[in-house]
Amino acid sequence: MQLSKNIDHSNPKAIVYKELLEQIKALTVGENELIANLGNICALLKYEMNWFWVGFYFVKNDELVLGTFQGPLACTRIKKGKGVCGSAWERNETIVVPNVNLFEGHIACSSLTQSEIVLPIRNNEGTCIGVLDVDSEKLNNFEEADKKGLETIVEFINQMF
Ligand code: SME
Repeated sequence: MQLSKNIDHSNPKAIVYKELLEQIKALTVGENELIANLGNICALLKYEMNWFWVGFYFVKNDELVLGTFQGPLACTRIKKGKGVCGSAWERNETIVVPNVNLFEGHIACSSLTQSEIVLPIRNNEGTCIGVLDVDSEKLNNFEEADKKGLETIVEFINQMF
């Protein structure tokens, strides 16, 4: 059984993200094991997009706690307002960081990360219950099209909560 088909990266990013979302739907619709689904989403995004680290953090007792991820070891707990993840949680909005070295308070789980995007995961009341963190070894690797594409993917993920 072939679980994922290769995505044509010569297409515009809007098409790439549409195909990613289709694959995520194919992997998860009809399957209600949350951890398995979130793990597969991390694997698909990391390996298909060649990012350095892709993972979820979820709010637990007023902290973000590491969830499923793909990539090197990461910090287990992040306080509200700390780093990019804690700031995206506090503001309940997507944060794109073109150069992490210039983001005050950035939590460097790996010195190889150069840019990142963090998107809030929201329940159906709009409350931020976690974040999706995507890190790249390249500077300035996330543009408006990535923000839009990942926000569409996160809107689908939100429906799992
Ligand atoms: N860089 C993040 C911390 C999480 S790791 O990079 C996986 C931050 O500043 O919130």
